[in-house]
Amino acid sequence: MRRSKKTVTETLPGATDRRVAALVTLLAENATFVISGARVAREIGVSRSTVWKWVERLRELGVRVKGHPRTGYFLEKVPDILTADMLRQRLKGSLFGKHIYHFLKVDSTNRVALELGHAGEPEGAVVLGEEQTAGRGRAGRGWHSERATGIYATLLLRPKLAPVQAPLLTMMAGLSAHAAIQAQTGLTVDLKWPNDLLIGGKKVGGILTEMHAEPAQVRFVIVGIGLNVNQDKFPAELAARATSLRAASGRPQSRLELLVRLLMEFERDYNDFLSEGPAAVIDRFTKVSSYAYGKRVRVSNGREDVTGTTAGIGPEGLLLVKRDNGQVMTVIAGDVTEAL
Ligand code: BTN
Repeated sequence: MRRSKKTVTETLPGATDRRVAALVTLLAENATFVISGARVAREIGVSRSTVWKWVERLRELGVRVKGHPRTGYFLEKVPDILTADMLRQRLKGSLFGKHIYHFLKVDSTNRVALELGHAGEPEGAVVLGEEQTAGRGRAGRGWHSERATGIYATLLLRPKLAPVQAPLLTMMAGLSAHAAIQAQTGLTVDLKWPNDLLIGGKKVGGILTEMHAEPAQVRFVIVGIGLNVNQDKFPAELAARATSLRAASGRPQSRLELLVRLLMEFERDYNDFLSEGPAAVIDRFTKVSSYAYGKRVRVSNGREDVTGTTAGIGPEGLLLVKRDNGQVMTVIAGDVTEAL
């Protein structure tokens, strides 16, 4: 992948054209005023027909732009779109405010972030998608990524950690998301080891951490975070198991506000983790997660199913489960579900 000093939105194939973002900003700054198509075209530096094409694309994303080329355009409502410019403004001075890659449509933000990591992109890069066509979930599953309703974000980190400690970042990210959601919505969120955010037992978010490491040292880690924010329905196969913040709180939630909070929480938690080590993460997780202690669970690792009762989180962030025969096992990987 080619690197240059230019903002990468100009160099990454498929990333949102900065001029589309400028169009959104122009409309947002003049919200409710009619701006002529000619003025938009002049200020953005494209033809009037291109402006029209982009307006149509923005409408598909749920941005409520009224008007047409003859009458001019205006925004009926300032959009909740996650453009890199808007985010950068809100994250000045933050680790995550410098390199933001925004896609209107992308296969997977984790896939892009992995490529960036291999290409030497510095720590703190954020990859965002309004929509993912091949969102990745844990254990080779997919992640339903409906356009402009959820947060689909991947963060690139280069921590000085041993590979064995990297899974703690998944738990830490869960705690950051937990804090951000609770601060914004007041909802009670549960965490299920290692990576699920639940409301009322239904999944509202998940985290997929992937890493590139040498035996003793992590080269980079990418932390992919998916949050269901404003979905009002899910595909039939997910409907019983998934929920969104909108459904749970009864009102739409600003994705921009939530993402800003999340990234600020994440940066604070990450700095604390690097300076103080994993004990505080494990401690916080244990307090917040109803799954940490005393929960009857079934653990499936693809080969066998084991039933037992959770018995805390070990020092490396792995779940401990006391089997019915009294033996305590450490869960390294696998699906944990409540056993009723
Ligand atoms: C899980 O299975 O619970 C993890 C889901 C992680 C989904 C996020 S959405 C942003 C990032 N890009 C991906 O392709 N996956 C993660």
